[in-house]
Amino acid sequence: MNTTRRSFFGLVGGSAAGLALPSMFTAARAEDGFLVLTAGRSRHALGESDAQSEVWTYNAGLPGPEIRVRRGEWVRVRLVNDLDVPTSIHWHGIRIANAMDGVTGLTQEPVPPGETFEYDFIAPDAGTYWYHAHTRSWNQVARGLYGPLIVEEMANPFDRRNDVTLVLDDWRLDENDVLDVASIGSLRDWSHAGRLGNWLTVNGRSRPDFSLRGGEPGRIRLINASNARILEIDPNRIGARVLAYDGQPLRNPLTVNGRSLPIGPAQRVDLVVMPEAGADFVLEEMSQDQPLPFARFSVKESGTRAGTIPTLPSNDLPEPDLETAQTVQLVMTGGAMGRLDDIVYEGRKQEREDFRRTGQVWAFNGVANRTETPLFSVQRGQSVIVEMENDTAWPHAIHTHGHHFRVLTGEGGPWRDTVLIDPRQSARIGFVADNPGKWLLHCHMLEHAAAGMNTWFEVL
Ligand code: C2O
Ligand code: CU
Repeated sequence: MNTTRRSFFGLVGGSAAGLALPSMFTAARAEDGFLVLTAGRSRHALGESDAQSEVWTYNAGLPGPEIRVRRGEWVRVRLVNDLDVPTSIHWHGIRIANAMDGVTGLTQEPVPPGETFEYDFIAPDAGTYWYHAHTRSWNQVARGLYGPLIVEEMANPFDRRNDVTLVLDDWRLDENDVLDVASIGSLRDWSHAGRLGNWLTVNGRSRPDFSLRGGEPGRIRLINASNARILEIDPNRIGARVLAYDGQPLRNPLTVNGRSLPIGPAQRVDLVVMPEAGADFVLEEMSQDQPLPFARFSVKESGTRAGTIPTLPSNDLPEPDLETAQTVQLVMTGGAMGRLDDIVYEGRKQEREDFRRTGQVWAFNGVANRTETPLFSVQRGQSVIVEMENDTAWPHAIHTHGHHFRVLTGEGGPWRDTVLIDPRQSARIGFVADNPGKWLLHCHMLEHAAAGMNTWFEVL
């Protein structure tokens, strides 16, 4: 896998692309107020050359249009499926009504080609979220079906011109600079780190420029839309502090000292900067041998707002009661270099060779993929602690639908909806199961989810 990592670097060179402005409400609104998102095929130059790749997009945009609402407002989207395969949309990180969660086979039927589906829900929490396909997501997200969903605070503490969204994606391009479609679904990716790419884009472009106004706080919203790549940044190199993780603000903007900050697949990090006019800076990806610049910010004339770093208002999520919480164990096994001999799939213990046929190579508590039985089932309002143990040789990014959780290990215990767990490590998360319905819990390395790391829980 290290060859692909090297080319992630090796392909980089040449000059920066032109000005990239975040798209906003570029989608047409139907007369009834619904925003129309048409999933379809379109062509984009992904790499450094003009070579066009066929991608799957919403409204032909890469990423799909930025949806921006205010906290507590309705989001109304009509999905039109112009693809020739079924699809659905999941609203990642939104504490949503279950029927709107977009998970085929659990909360809705997939939307067939040529048909439509209406999503209609309230966005209860301010913050940085995103939407993506949730039908064979390992395939559909790899091809480009995602976009940002921004929920503004009641009073946005940032000037709109100083509030930018960067959707990051890690593409696998072939030697012609074209999306490598043939390797989507490769069993090697499924059993190893997931689909890793060799080319990083920001809002569908290579190393775009952004501009900020100096002397006032600027907000940089980072969304990792990669199938499996863990990105790393070092906020200190640009004098940035962390405002929020996965949409949820920290109590105070956090200075991350002396190390880089991983951003796992599906995770979001909001940064706050306050540069002086003229103090241009570059954001770099830090996971490789050398920093990889991926976005450049030019800092223009000073703005008019007060030059203080704002603290974001809390979304007031319910605190889990750790005394009365129900504890659930979640042991992850399988994968390359892992135990494969005791994985049950569809009620039957797999033999090692079965993997080629079933593709199932990871397990939660010894079971690969979703079954009829939930991981746990609790009454609404019950606090839950999930004790997770990663008994594999790979990192995982565990995501719960419909709920945010507190990370009970590690520093500070931030709220998150997706948590990274390193090989042979464990983590505890706690949350109040207050959102009725059937909710997925899965690894957001999308190949891992498809290959077994996928279960669900029920809130009654
Ligand atoms: Cu980002 Cu199951 O989802
Ligand atoms: Cu995983």
